[in-house]
Amino acid sequence: MSFPIVVLISGNGSNLQAIIDKCHVPGDVEIKAVISDQPGAYGLHRALQAGIKAGVHKQVEGEPRDGYCFILADIIEDFEPELIVLAGFMKLLSPCFIDRFPNKIINIHPSLLPKYKGLHTHRRVLEAGDKEHGITIHWVTEELDSGPIIVQRRFPIMSDDTEETLEQKVHLLEHIWYPWVVSRIARNERISENLVR
Ligand code: GRF
Repeated sequence: MSFPIVVLISGNGSNLQAIIDKCHVPGDVEIKAVISDQPGAYGLHRALQAGIKAGVHKQVEGEPRDGYCFILADIIEDFEPELIVLAGFMKLLSPCFIDRFPNKIINIHPSLLPKYKGLHTHRRVLEAGDKEHGITIHWVTEELDSGPIIVQRRFPIMSDDTEETLEQKVHLLEHIWYPWVVSRIARNERISENLVR
């Protein structure tokens, strides 16, 4: 039986596409649904193209975060996922959501956490004059971008790198490692600590 997951997105969905191509199509993992908080997210189109259920759950103006997350959790629960994969999902999930799915939510972040939590990581890395940049895949806890790290991959920053080239390099790594992590979790295989450095 394939391993059921739900993927949450807000935008382009290139990481979703990598997971579709490398996990869902081969059949080890079944993406039960893709849910976006943004009606125009291109990732919804990617899901439908692959024959995966896709829908929007948008936070209406003035709706409290807890209420939004409570309904989102209800929607997701119906799909009985073993794993919830945040792939560019831009909403901060409230503790009541996270408590409903203990040790079942992962996220990918475009920086070497704990450096550069939050937004605009490529710009901040360049402004700081860092020598390296990278990606982090981690378990989701109540504190933003702070849960236990599963995999971290890094690369050197070149003198001619820009926000755009850093984004491209980050995406190249993400598209390799996010599907890899999803597959390992699906097969209940240990992930070496050597991949966090
Ligand atoms: C990725 O860089 C990811 O690290 C961050 O948001 C971006 C989403 O890109 N959380 P995409 O929508 O998967 O193309």
